[in-house]
Amino acid sequence: MMKLLSGNSNRPLAEAIAGFLNLTLTKATVRRFADMEVFVEILENVRGEDVFIIQSTSFPANDHLMELLICIDALNRASARRITAVIPYFGYARQDRKPGPRTPISAKLVANLITKAGADRVLTLDLHAGQIQGFFDIPTDNLYSAPVFERDIHENLHGESPVIVSPDVGGVVRARQLARRLNADLAIVDKRRERPGESEVMNIIGTVEGRACILVDDIVDSGGTLCNAAQALMEKGAKSVAAYVTHGVLSGGAVARVADSALRELVITDSIDPTEDVEKAPNIRVLPIAPLIAEAMRRIAKEESVSSLFD
Ligand code: R5P
Repeated sequence: MMKLLSGNSNRPLAEAIAGFLNLTLTKATVRRFADMEVFVEILENVRGEDVFIIQSTSFPANDHLMELLICIDALNRASARRITAVIPYFGYARQDRKPGPRTPISAKLVANLITKAGADRVLTLDLHAGQIQGFFDIPTDNLYSAPVFERDIHENLHGESPVIVSPDVGGVVRARQLARRLNADLAIVDKRRERPGESEVMNIIGTVEGRACILVDDIVDSGGTLCNAAQALMEKGAKSVAAYVTHGVLSGGAVARVADSALRELVITDSIDPTEDVEKAPNIRVLPIAPLIAEAMRRIAKEESVSSLFD
């Protein structure tokens, strides 16, 4: 039987997923000792069950990661038949290569930790780079929010054909995929520092003049990448700029930066539990991702195709 367990990082999302699957969350306590060590106790029998633990490794990333690892250990010791780590937002993903000598590849280390703790499979959403899937030596399904974004864009653009824009060269594959689904044009913001010490120049590859532009990215953290790209697009004569980003990390003053920017709207998913600030923000809207994740979980449990969700 399928059982769902939630860590503390995004309980509303776990409850929404449970609702779609007509299940209730497995009773468990995930709490802290006085010295902040994590303590987990699963309060229901899970012997022989197909258990999904739902936990984004979002802020505070280290605490949430540790909770996930300890939950997996508890499930293993309680003889769960199969443990799937459902990680809607996989933190540490941006550390997926050595940016210089004597630096770590933390995304690989985190993948090792999750595997070593005893997860049998991983289900995640819009990994920062597709190849991180290969950091796990266990089956890993990487879902895409593209169909959710596609539907919302159709509903909000009232027939107008947008230009899908990648805010940097690294995000072109992601933007192209969405552009293809929407049969839309593609543009790229190319940030370049011509000489050390000189400020960055934003070149736009593609035609944006008079067009409704939609920036697409996996993560919005400080908001700098998006807000600067939106400004550059407006300066090139774009009619409007909106952004669709899967993971709303939104650290520090990001919400205020987005509010003060040229962005008409920033649309994110609830892969990370939105803070009160995000919920109150004038130009940020949150789309629910639970239906997509729940359907993928149902298919994993029934051994059905997950990739066909994106055909
Ligand atoms: C970078 O490679 C990512 O795809 C995002 O563009 C980046 O993490 C966003 O960060 P920030 O919002 O701080 O500019």
